[in-house]
Amino acid sequence: MKNGTRPDLAPTRSSTPTVLVVEDDEANRVLLSRLLESEGYRVHAESDGEAGKRAVATYRPDLVLLDVGLPGLDGYEVTRRLRLDPRNATLPILLLTGRTSLADIVTGLNAGADDFITKPFAQPELIARIRSALRLRRALVGMEAAHAVVAALANAVEAKDAPTERHCERLALLAARLGSRLGLSIAELDAVAYGALLHDVGKIGVPDAVLTKAGPLTEEEWALVRRHPEIGERICAPLESFAAFGTIIRHHHERWDGTGYPDGLRGEATSLGARIVGIVDAFDAMTHDRPYRGALSVDQALEELRRGAGRQFDRQLARLFVDEIAGVRGPLPEPAGDPFALVARHLRPMEPAHPSGGRAG
Ligand SMILES: [Fe+2]
Repeated sequence: MKNGTRPDLAPTRSSTPTVLVVEDDEANRVLLSRLLESEGYRVHAESDGEAGKRAVATYRPDLVLLDVGLPGLDGYEVTRRLRLDPRNATLPILLLTGRTSLADIVTGLNAGADDFITKPFAQPELIARIRSALRLRRALVGMEAAHAVVAALANAVEAKDAPTERHCERLALLAARLGSRLGLSIAELDAVAYGALLHDVGKIGVPDAVLTKAGPLTEEEWALVRRHPEIGERICAPLESFAAFGTIIRHHHERWDGTGYPDGLRGEATSLGARIVGIVDAFDAMTHDRPYRGALSVDQALEELRRGAGRQFDRQLARLFVDEIAGVRGPLPEPAGDPFALVARHLRPMEPAHPSGGRAG
């Protein structure tokens, strides 16, 4: 157990989790600290709420064990204040309390606590709960890192193909919206949103001169553009979550009648996610300006989707999408229960779309 600043407990991440103990009762504080150290954790201990809150900012612990009945700021208030900082969103906070009434538990949960440990505690239970909370924490931190990588790649496409800026972000919203109508699970919606964000990442491998060319493309130039799904697949293959959305990247230009690329898949041989992104990609491209043509109105674009149903697009999906969009008055709202809030949070702020557009691809 250590109180105050100590260089070897500086906020660097290591494989040994750091637990912050905030407990005013010295005997309990010593007992908890020794127990946790004997289990292999780094421990930092404080005796009041204000110091505990400061220690979170200084030491960035992996878990906080927080007594409720502290002098000054009590455990509920410390929890509430910690949760105001987005950096503590996934920090596990376990409250130590002698009170076990339902009202106390509700107060703790409302403040943002993850779990309760009743005093006097059984040591094996305390350790088991800490391990469980840390496992969840590791999973969440891993997800955040993966989301940050996806967002970085999405930003790279936007930077490369600037005239289509926000296209990928809009697509993620529209694709998730259509996916919600289909009743996809949150995990499936997440995969569709990621696939939509990254569907054109292969454009990184297509020369700028071709991507931004105002006039018609030559046959050779089209051949280069048509390579972007395969290039994108190669770029994203090392990502852990690639299995969930890789097919969207490779197959977002396949067509229902088998005349698409790169594999000439027909009908449902193209994954549902790729068919969803194919439709929303076409809709978004049609409703925004491109160097070689102006934007169509929403009604005109929906008419094009109706015409392409059963040829370019999955007939049922196209009908569902047209119903969904045609029923909306005014700007398209974002889907409720945004499944990719984490991704959106990592996207760099972008300027409003300007009138010139890039090549749909
Ligand atoms: Fe594309």
